[in-house]
Amino acid sequence: MQFGHKDLLGLKELTADEIRYILHSAETMKYILMQNAKKTPHLQGKSIVTLFYENSTRTRMSFELASKYMSASAANITASGSSVQKGESLLDTVRTLDRMGTDVIIMRHPMSGAPHLAAKHAKSAIVNAGDGMNEHPTQALLDLFTIQEKKGRIEGLKVAICGDIKHSRVARSNIYGLTKLGAEVAVGGPSTLMPAEIEQLGCKAYNSVQEALIDADVVMGLRMQLERQKKGLIPSAREYARFFGIDERRMKYAKPDAILLHPGPVNRGMELTTGVMEHDGCFIDEQVTNGVAVRMAVLNILTRKGGQVEYSH
Ligand code: CP
Repeated sequence: MQFGHKDLLGLKELTADEIRYILHSAETMKYILMQNAKKTPHLQGKSIVTLFYENSTRTRMSFELASKYMSASAANITASGSSVQKGESLLDTVRTLDRMGTDVIIMRHPMSGAPHLAAKHAKSAIVNAGDGMNEHPTQALLDLFTIQEKKGRIEGLKVAICGDIKHSRVARSNIYGLTKLGAEVAVGGPSTLMPAEIEQLGCKAYNSVQEALIDADVVMGLRMQLERQKKGLIPSAREYARFFGIDERRMKYAKPDAILLHPGPVNRGMELTTGVMEHDGCFIDEQVTNGVAVRMAVLNILTRKGGQVEYSH
């Protein structure tokens, strides 16, 4: 089997075997990451650039650290500190980076489809680090990795994704990835934050968090994407927390050994209470660590263009 993609744009485009291969490769990277000397020669001679048109802590920093741990040259550009401010277009920016010899451009953009457009014109591999309300594939890969690590499997599990489904690229990528790997997915949240067509992606939708949580093995809270919401979609933060937030009482609807995940950053007290975040089954910190391992695996796979995939299952 080969990983037949120049870019990583979304989990919609990947087969179940390709997703499994990245997860398998991330296991090796996690082992490296756990050593005292976190340095490998995998990306020696490669240049990796993060190009972010939106804010980020986890994604941008984990890609930067992943690049450095693997001996690549790593650089960062943000829209606010670049010639984007002078009106340079996305394609001209990507073309400029290409000409400097970049091998991978990791891109976050508020417009859905922006990385797909860049990928059509770029020589460098493009990694989608979140595009509008479309996809955030490396977030979903690290979520899948964490589920597999904590539950030992993904197939046959029930995963409840709760909150602002409508504006969440994390939800969309997770629905693609989880259903391809054989999980049952329930989404729960207010009707104003639930897209009408969401069940077409293969999940079951509920306008109540409790109903979505029933017998779940994995509970995934989502950040309220306030920057993408029009006014009036939720009455207030306090009422959202009361009717749709995940607290200890609501977690009781899930299985007793259910794990709790959240992509971060968390609006504490709104999506999740501090109480559930301190519970033994909450693995938000582990998600952050696994994000570095998964991004190391993605960079390694994309820079070994046409390389044989060793994974078999
Ligand atoms: N989960 C996530 O994408 O976080 P950042 O916005 O901090 O990268």
